[in-house]
Amino acid sequence: MMRFSTLSSKNILLGVTGSIAAYKAAELVRELSRQGAAVTVVMTESAGKFVGLTTFNALSGRTVYTNLFNNPAEPAPHINLPRQADAVVIAPATANFIGKMAHGIADDLLSTIVLAAQKPILVCPAMNSAMYEHPAMKGNLEQLRKYGYQVVEPETGPLACGDEGPGRLAEPSTICEAVKTVLEKKDLQGRKILVTAGPTEEPIDPVRFISNRSSGKMGYSLARVARRRGAEVVLISGPTCLSKPWGIEFVPVRTAAEMHKAVMSYFDWATIVIKAAAVADYGPSTVIPQKLKKGTPDLSLKLTRTPDILKELGKRKKRQILVGFAAESKNLAVEARRKLQEKNLDLIVANDITVPGAGFGFDTNQVKIITAAGGVIDSPLLDKEEIAYLILDKVLEVMQKRGGRS
Ligand code: PMT
Repeated sequence: MMRFSTLSSKNILLGVTGSIAAYKAAELVRELSRQGAAVTVVMTESAGKFVGLTTFNALSGRTVYTNLFNNPAEPAPHINLPRQADAVVIAPATANFIGKMAHGIADDLLSTIVLAAQKPILVCPAMNSAMYEHPAMKGNLEQLRKYGYQVVEPETGPLACGDEGPGRLAEPSTICEAVKTVLEKKDLQGRKILVTAGPTEEPIDPVRFISNRSSGKMGYSLARVARRRGAEVVLISGPTCLSKPWGIEFVPVRTAAEMHKAVMSYFDWATIVIKAAAVADYGPSTVIPQKLKKGTPDLSLKLTRTPDILKELGKRKKRQILVGFAAESKNLAVEARRKLQEKNLDLIVANDITVPGAGFGFDTNQVKIITAAGGVIDSPLLDKEEIAYLILDKVLEVMQKRGGRS
């Protein structure tokens, strides 16, 4: 559990409408609550045909509302509930309910709440692909965007009805991320941030490669937090098991050479570059086209240096803030400062990989953030998202010292 979360002490009003995906709203209540939010559920009458009120009551620990006249002691819930909320989330939102919202119809508690709410509204559609792709639906969603509502697009895949296509309710983790993005301060608005993450794989033959233990968690955390704080983010990632973060341009690569090419193609676009990737320093000089057979007792592989992407960026940089990482097992500060100077960086984040819970693979990290001007921040062991907040705070500080927006 993180010590800090955007959702801590936030009140989320979750509207559930009548879709088979209503069962996923139960998971969403758990996820929002796990991250510190208090969730109040409002169900439409047809939502009750898919999931029972008791389920939401047990998961949220709060009263579940189903109609305007639930409780005579609590008049006008359509005014009071959104007033108490920090955000209103409609998940799943059916075609019918989206149509009602688009046209200002208020004929039950939830649709009346939507009309009365003066808080951020997120709409998470879920329906059959043909319905989702109908021009009426496209027009209705467009109308909701014009009202300033955030539409969390459905996913494409197998649907409950047996069809395949767009229409699956976004995953609870995606909806949570969208809620956090809506609620987060936007101090990185207007910044264009390029993040690299994960390992690279340098192929030996069709089935073998040289790589390292980077999971991508540090880089993905940075990308998510930067997006949440309002930046436009491109994430260039080596192979990882993580899901593509929501709302981010994602560029998958495999080798150091591919990462080099991708980074160079975005470099002029970016105002901030953060290189959290663990790029292989060496790769096999030639790739063996067929699977290597075992034969001789010994085998030598000739390795060649890969391009040092960050060093090249350091030579080419004009207005960008360049942030490097260093994973070290000894002389942490000395090695990090050497890399900072050698690669002409503005900031380096050094992780001591001998500290339990820090560096490769863990959900947590403990870092030294060193600036070119000589400033040092020593973090405790924190969740990688919290480390991402610290790094981005420092980046902003460096930019402000340098003279505001670039
Ligand atoms: O992915 P996780 O499991 O969450 O782990 C995170 C991490 C430990 C991988 C990350 O926090 C980290 O420290 N990444 C840098 C790893 C490293 O040791 O890099 P390096 O010392 O080889 O390189 C220094 C810097 O130059 C890095 O920013 C690297 O991206 C960059 N570099 C290195 C080699 C190369 N050929 N090109 C580069 O751009």
